[in-house]
Amino acid sequence: MARLGIKALFVSNAAGAVNRTFAPGDLMLIVDHLNLMGRDPLSGEGLDEELPRPDLERPYDAGLCDDVRAAAIEQRVELREGVYAANLGPSFETPAEVRMAARLGADAVGMSTVPEVITARAMGVRCFGVSCMTNYGAGISPMPLSHIEVIETTDRIAETFQSLVLGALARVAQRLSREPNG
Ligand code: HPA
Repeated sequence: MARLGIKALFVSNAAGAVNRTFAPGDLMLIVDHLNLMGRDPLSGEGLDEELPRPDLERPYDAGLCDDVRAAAIEQRVELREGVYAANLGPSFETPAEVRMAARLGADAVGMSTVPEVITARAMGVRCFGVSCMTNYGAGISPMPLSHIEVIETTDRIAETFQSLVLGALARVAQRLSREPNG
């Protein structure tokens, strides 16, 4: 996509809530991430030679994040903010791993997004994203964690999520067209 010329990448995911003030159905603007996958998408034969070291000091673009915040205010969608931690998966975490993620500074935990953002940053693409809390992280709620809960929560929140994304994208498109290299 970067080679086709995209300037910005929107990422979204289903995530478990690690921050105890969050609840299933909450949407979280991703402001930073933790790579707990034990891998980096830029490592591996040939790849690290090809791409420049990405600037990960600001992995999620401040202006694009502001556009999501503005869309959320306009649409009266309560928007959380936080750090997304990516585990490799496909296993869900243990309660101890969720506690560890919280101590490391995570607000949400999932199995995606981080490799995409690292790669996009290496190609100079500006990133922004929203996580949907589909469940409490393991050990937080007495209810057992299930993939069915993940699907049910995404179904429940789909319309709100779609309108937030559409509102944000309209603002992002305006921003990019205003900017000299947009
Ligand atoms: N952990 C990891 N990935 C997830 C979760 C979770 O609790 N919920 C949805 N994707």
